[in-house]
Amino acid sequence: MIPLSEHLKLRQAEVDAALDRLTPAETTLPETIHKAMRYSLFAGGKRIRPALCLEAAAAISDVAPGVFEAACSLEMIHTYSLIHDDLPALDNDDYRRGKLTNHKVFGEAMAILAGDSLLTLAFQTLTRAAGLDAAGKVALMEELSFASGTDEGMIGGQVIDIESERLPPTAELLARIHRAKTGALLRASVRMGAVCAGADSAQMAAISRYGEHIGLAFQIVDDILDVEESSEALGKTAGKDAAQGKITFPAVYGLETSRAMAAAECTEAHAALEVFGERAVRLHQLADLIVHRKA
Ligand code: IPE
Ligand code: IPE
Ligand code: MG
Ligand code: MG
Ligand code: MG
Repeated sequence: MIPLSEHLKLRQAEVDAALDRLTPAETTLPETIHKAMRYSLFAGGKRIRPALCLEAAAAISDVAPGVFEAACSLEMIHTYSLIHDDLPALDNDDYRRGKLTNHKVFGEAMAILAGDSLLTLAFQTLTRAAGLDAAGKVALMEELSFASGTDEGMIGGQVIDIESERLPPTAELLARIHRAKTGALLRASVRMGAVCAGADSAQMAAISRYGEHIGLAFQIVDDILDVEESSEALGKTAGKDAAQGKITFPAVYGLETSRAMAAAECTEAHAALEVFGERAVRLHQLADLIVHRKA
């Protein structure tokens, strides 16, 4: 079996090719919006959500119709959430994925519209899921819309994140923010892969549990990296959370306990994979990567 890093590079190339195919060309009119969408989509994201989607499917079946469209729809939603997260009205960031943020290059109006259009394109992409029947497409849309939405989804988490700036950092608020703003889409990533692979209810329950644990671990680590790493290493401005009074794991628990909590979530994620046996080897490796990454 090839190392995970090489395997991910191959998968990433496949995902990038699919994203390229599914996104209007830069020359499509009106050109500006397609340039802005592609600027962020191909800025060098780690493609963790597509990888989770593909590997969740692979843990269940060799046949998973529509899994690339599902993977791409997740990356489109994620990229839209980052473009908007970086806007002056939200986190006001100048750098993302090692490049200037979308609004710094294209202006705020176009960045708002680029986010909107990636959100729209994500659902259009699911209508094109190759080989998947209508019920399967509806199931994918249900997963993605819930995870991106206001009721325990990404937007809901972003709302509490903003409204809680400079409030006393409590454990309860922290758990609510992180489960929603980041956890929901990561959980949906593996669930959507499982839908394409035709998971039964026991497999869906196990994959959801895995998704919840790696989802929380992912944002704990994002918070830790914001404190510990340089802007160069992260490709985005480090130290922003403390400067903006965000409610984060290090703010509530300190760095050492935060690290232990990320490791504990990782252990739970591994345990959730038991039912899949050897087939889940890549999901095991991805859980470790999420906790040990440096960017
Ligand atoms: C960053 O996500 C934003 C969070 C949800 C914490 P990633 O760390 O996956 O960012 P990219 O896609 O690699 O840029
Ligand atoms: C953003 O969380 C989560 C999103 C829904 C985009 P952060 O604000 O912590 O993400 P970064 O650190 O800017 O990538
Ligand atoms: Mg934010
Ligand atoms: Mg941010
Ligand atoms: Mg962050």
